[in-house]
Amino acid sequence: MPYSEKKYKIKILKNGPYLVSENIPLYEKIIIQKGGVNEYKEGREILQAEEYALCRCGKSKNAPFCDGSHIQAGFIGTETASKEKYEDRAELCKGPGINLLDDNRCAFARFCHREDGNAWELTENSDKPEYRNEAVKAASGCPAGRLVAVDKTGKVIEPDYEPSIEIIQDPEQGTSGGIFVKGSIPIESSDGQLYEIRNRVALCRCGKSKNKPFCDATHVSIKFSNK
Ligand code: FES
Repeated sequence: MPYSEKKYKIKILKNGPYLVSENIPLYEKIIIQKGGVNEYKEGREILQAEEYALCRCGKSKNAPFCDGSHIQAGFIGTETASKEKYEDRAELCKGPGINLLDDNRCAFARFCHREDGNAWELTENSDKPEYRNEAVKAASGCPAGRLVAVDKTGKVIEPDYEPSIEIIQDPEQGTSGGIFVKGSIPIESSDGQLYEIRNRVALCRCGKSKNKPFCDATHVSIKFSNK
């Protein structure tokens, strides 16, 4: 079945895992630094399945999958994130060659840092074509979807992703990261409402985000490790 006809979904269970349906490809990716910028290398192979439950509490002994530990741990997974649209929540930073939307939802993946500066600095200096290009890369590489480059005609610039889910490891920070959800997969709240469908979002898997279900980089400060 072509991607466009599949009914992909991530369903959040109250105080429990993320239920993933329709055979969404699942990978582990490891953040590495190369030549001053971050990139991914492939992690271990993860068993693919039609349906699976991803741990959201951070306590599973069979990560990234749920093993029921959330019950014993008394996990409270209350969703606190706004369901307002990204463009209504985001601030617009204007540059001479490109604009940048920023909703401040940071997963601390650091792809917004390029050799010549970060996404905001590159946007400020985007009258230079090479900085404009770098600003677009810095924004588009943000797995949380915090940053989105917008050209001067108002067109949003997004990377072309097919639906997939990536479990992140971040050895440079000595931590396991969040869950990167790519390719406009619908995410349904435990109350049955849908979050805005986006090309890129990062979900929390350490159980400690203050902006559940989304990652807020708390995994870094608590040195979350779940491999
Ligand atoms: S959500 Fe079930 S073990 Fe973490």
